[in-house]
Amino acid sequence: MNVIFLLAAYLIGSIPTALIVGKLFFKIDIREHGSNNPGATNTIRVLGKRAGLIVLIVDIGKGALAAALPLLFHLDMEPLTLGLIAVVGHCFPIFAHFRGGKAIATTAGTLLVVNPWMLLIAYVTFFGVIFITKYVFLGSISVGVALLIYSFFQPGMGYELIFFLFIIFLLFLHRSNIRNFIAHKEPKINDKKVKDD
Ligand code: G3P
Repeated sequence: MNVIFLLAAYLIGSIPTALIVGKLFFKIDIREHGSNNPGATNTIRVLGKRAGLIVLIVDIGKGALAAALPLLFHLDMEPLTLGLIAVVGHCFPIFAHFRGGKAIATTAGTLLVVNPWMLLIAYVTFFGVIFITKYVFLGSISVGVALLIYSFFQPGMGYELIFFLFIIFLLFLHRSNIRNFIAHKEPKINDKKVKDD
C-alpha cells in the first residue's frame, strides 16, 4: 500500500513542467537552451517571466501535493519523505529520460506542507544569498545549508542526516554551475546571456 504512494510521489515529481511548457507554447526543448536546466530559473532566462512563473508554481505544487498525500489519504507516512521523493522525481524524471531540474521549487512545495517555518528560513536565505552574490546556484545550495542549520536547533526531529545528505545532493545537481563558476562562466542573475562552455 505504502509503496503505491511512494511511487505516486515519484511520478508526481517526474512531471517535466519546464519541458512541457517549452514544447507546448514555444516549440523548443528547454534542455537545449540557456543552462540546459529544465527548471523555473532557466525557463525565466530563456522563455520569460510568465512561462517561468507557470513552471515555478507547478513545480512547487508537485512537492506540496506529494507531501500532502498522507493528509489527503489518511496515511501513516512522513510528509517529508513523500515530498523528498517527489524532489528526486523532479530531478530524475522517468518521463524525461531522467534529465530533470535542480530541486529548489519542488523542495519549496514540500516544505510548505511539512513546516512553513522551514520554508521561510530556507527561502529567505535563498533570496538573501542571490541578492548579495547575484548567483542563483549559490542561493539554491544555501537552501540546504539553512535547512541543516535549522535542524540543529530542532533536536529530536531527526532531520540532521536528511539535510546533510540533501546538501550533497544539491552540490551534485549543481556541479555544472560550480564548474562554470570556477571557470568564470556562470551567469549572474542579471546577465542576459548564458556563456557557452
Ligand atoms: O534553482 C535552479 C538553480 O539552482 C540553477 O539553475 O538554470 O542557473 O542552472 P540554472
